Amino acid sequence: SEGNYIRTKKYEGKLYVSLIPGNIKDHLEKIDSMEVREDDTFILSYPKSGTHWVFTIASMLRTGKSTYIGSPQFLDYNDVEVLDKLPSPRLFASHMTFDRLPRQVREGKGKVFVVSRNPKDVAVSLYTFLLKLNQADFSGSWEGFLRFYMEGKMLYGSWFQTLFDWEETEATYKGDNVMYLVYEDMKQDLLSNVNKMASFLGVTYDQSFLEEVTDRCTFKTMVKTIIDEIKPQDQEFIHRMSDEKKLPIYRKGEVGDWKNHFTVAQNEVFDKLYQEKMRNSKCKFRFE
Ligand code: A3P
Repeated sequence: SEGNYIRTKKYEGKLYVSLIPGNIKDHLEKIDSMEVREDDTFILSYPKSGTHWVFTIASMLRTGKSTYIGSPQFLDYNDVEVLDKLPSPRLFASHMTFDRLPRQVREGKGKVFVVSRNPKDVAVSLYTFLLKLNQADFSGSWEGFLRFYMEGKMLYGSWFQTLFDWEETEATYKGDNVMYLVYEDMKQDLLSNVNKMASFLGVTYDQSFLEEVTDRCTFKTMVKTIIDEIKPQDQEFIHRMSDEKKLPIYRKGEVGDWKNHFTVAQNEVFDKLYQEKMRNSKCKFRFE
């Protein structure tokens, strides 16, 4: 295995996964000066917020085909030399903050989707994912995990800090190549979000294609067909990830599953922390 998803490296006060090839500083510098193309798409998130969901929709909108493709290329731990050679349209993902994106993106080139999700469902999704992930070698208790999560001692740090970083970007960045998506809103009305994503990308299709994309990207359809439809070369990634036949990324896909995991006491502690931390935030997350 190439590394451990739980282990992180700290650089300039922020945490990065230890899968980064070579030295972090060199890798971040290479990303900073990466050549960006107009039709590049970047999907940014705190882990388990719906990265693969937004990626799948964006890939269909970029290619004009409703086929599933394996998974996005992560800026965080792929060699930039390899990313440079990928054919267009390229779709990248990252759990890093805006300041770590290629400079040309921060100057307006390419398109960026930022997706966020309520922190209780993220906690459950992350915990259950790590248990299943071969590379993570993780077997901690939910109680202990939740404590670390609330303290921000996680890969990519604190959910709260990540949200605040994006709120600051939203308030200060003047470019028009960033679109903010919310998991709970997508669950509520996927078609209208697919429509908005298409306009943001500047692509035009018949409404029937956008409806097809929406149908193909519901949790039920994805979980049922994605494994059978992904090309063999992309399957390898799935098997490396977990021993299960089902991709561990597609677990329940619901809003409010946290209720099956948080005890009443854990929920009270979390709510208290949430209220304190979110005092100055404009974001209002829905938990059910
Ligand atoms: P759950 O573990 O709660 O099911 P990421 O891609 O950022 O790792 O996020 C994974 C989470 O997004 C998982 O949450 C997964 O089930 C959910 N997800 C993936 N595809 C989805 C879809 N089509 N609809 C709703 N949720 C989806």
